[in-house]
Amino acid sequence: MEDLAALRDELIGAVEAAGDLPALDQARVAALGRKGRITDLMKTLGTLDAEARRRAGQELNALKDAVAAAVEQRQVVLAGRDLDRRLAAERVDLTLPVRPERPGRIHPISQTIDEMVAIFAEMGFAVAEGPDVEDDWHNFEALNFPPGHPAREMQDTFYLPDRADGARMVLRTHTSPVQIRTMVSQKPPIRIVAPGRTYRSDYDMTHTPMFHQIEGLVVDETTHMGHLKGCLVEFARAFFQVDDLPLRFRPSFFPFTEPSAEVDIGCSRAGGEIKIGNHGDWLEILGCGMVHPNVLEACGIDSTRYQGFAFGMGIERPAMLKYGIPDLRTFFESDLRWLKHYGFVPLDIPNVAFGLTS
Ligand code: PHE
Repeated sequence: MEDLAALRDELIGAVEAAGDLPALDQARVAALGRKGRITDLMKTLGTLDAEARRRAGQELNALKDAVAAAVEQRQVVLAGRDLDRRLAAERVDLTLPVRPERPGRIHPISQTIDEMVAIFAEMGFAVAEGPDVEDDWHNFEALNFPPGHPAREMQDTFYLPDRADGARMVLRTHTSPVQIRTMVSQKPPIRIVAPGRTYRSDYDMTHTPMFHQIEGLVVDETTHMGHLKGCLVEFARAFFQVDDLPLRFRPSFFPFTEPSAEVDIGCSRAGGEIKIGNHGDWLEILGCGMVHPNVLEACGIDSTRYQGFAFGMGIERPAMLKYGIPDLRTFFESDLRWLKHYGFVPLDIPNVAFGLTS
């Protein structure tokens, strides 16, 4: 039998010298393949006497294992190098500016969210987020909907399988659970808006099972309903670009606010067309109120020291009103012609100082 130590150096040397994956495979086949060097030697074992065969068999098996291990190691190195090379070659520079001549458009929902956030950012609100899949505690219980409370039936909830720890899971029916997440994780003073998707089992001319809301929350020691009113009046006038737009606060009920109100803005419905402005008629746009003490306490905030206001507003309806989009369902049909018609140019970023839309 030939000198196995020299053969080992040669075969492993070839494996380690392989510069890419095809070369490595060649080195592997030359050593371990059906006609490879080690396989050839295995075939000669039959010519040896019993004792020599046993020893040579053991040595050849050890050599085989050593070469196989070297191939595996080299494979990891070369595969990693391949990936690095591909990543370098396929690099996309995401910081390149948008090219205005390209036909891409910003969806009216994204545009409307950007405009709303721009207005609230100017007033000093930060943006907060929460998950679409919520547990019962954040979506209902901490918001002062006890289990079995009839107010839960106000919303047609999509339920999901329970979490491993037994928690009941839902698609959030409103953005209000972000109030809870914010108050649990931050200390007052708090001033946030939370735009996002929400879900209710509802589908007709004016409802889609997925829609968007923007939530607002302010918590501080002296926050009162006058702040809520001033904030919403400023917002609505800026968003609809009507300086004398009247707002009407109507008493209402939500489990998580007390007192609660629904807010209408002035409009006219003459000729079957809704026009926003001081025209004598009213259109509801949002729900709001002072954060219920039970909600503050559920989040570990001392309700004898702090108070807050909150509001929640749909996004589709104001978008339709502002941009004259007649049919809610078209928002989510992914029709490119629709997007080209109603969409916004990516470079026109909404900004209160330079104009929300050009
Ligand atoms: N979450 C309520 C809804 O979806 C709106 C709301 C938010 C009301 C915050 C009061 C305060 O109808």
